[in-house]
Amino acid sequence: MPAQAPELSPVELYRLLANMIRAGRVEQVRTGSAADPARCRVRTGELLTTWLPWVSPAAGGSGQTRHWRTPANGEPCLLLAPGGDLAQAVALPGLFSDDMPQGAVSEDVERHDFSESDFWEHNRQSSTLRFEIAAAIELKVGGSVLHITPEGTKLTTPEYTVDSPASTFTGAVTVNGLLTYKAGMAGNAGQGGSNTIQGGFAVTGGTITHNGKRVDDGHTHPDAHGGNTGVPN
Ligand SMILES: [Fe+2]
Repeated sequence: MPAQAPELSPVELYRLLANMIRAGRVEQVRTGSAADPARCRVRTGELLTTWLPWVSPAAGGSGQTRHWRTPANGEPCLLLAPGGDLAQAVALPGLFSDDMPQGAVSEDVERHDFSESDFWEHNRQSSTLRFEIAAAIELKVGGSVLHITPEGTKLTTPEYTVDSPASTFTGAVTVNGLLTYKAGMAGNAGQGGSNTIQGGFAVTGGTITHNGKRVDDGHTHPDAHGGNTGVPN
């Protein structure tokens, strides 16, 4: 036999029915701890609810997908109350309002605003994904870290390969380790500059010329008798 439904007056039934789904605004947020899980209180009409959980896009717990974001103070929400019991309700935030409007106006755009300055945005029409963050972006995979700030960018990684037929650096380049090249070297001292090497310089094989004249170990000089000297020793 199914349990007998309690006999309720039409007024009471109407009250429960009206309380099953109500609109409100988040008024207080508790960010939570192990003892007191995250909850919020919602103002709906005259009533301020007790501490209620809010609905998140994912809550799979540790080791699975979960999404954390606290509702904003004043954020419009729906209260979903099983059986019309508001003490058991959950808050479903995420309704735009005049004072908390949408962040874009195009149907081709998906955008996530984090703050006044920080957001990501995808535009389907231009097929462009853009991240704009004021202070820092950090990408980390194990011990490899790409750290981007307004002051500079640093990539820390055990080995770095640029797989490209041509690379250009528009400014000065400093190499702290051994510089190895495998297909020759060609350069220019530039306007008013000169090429400088400090320390030893050893050449093996080939010839060394200056303005077309050999200065390597195979060069000779004219001698006093109209011939040529031998090579340097
Ligand atoms: Fe010489």
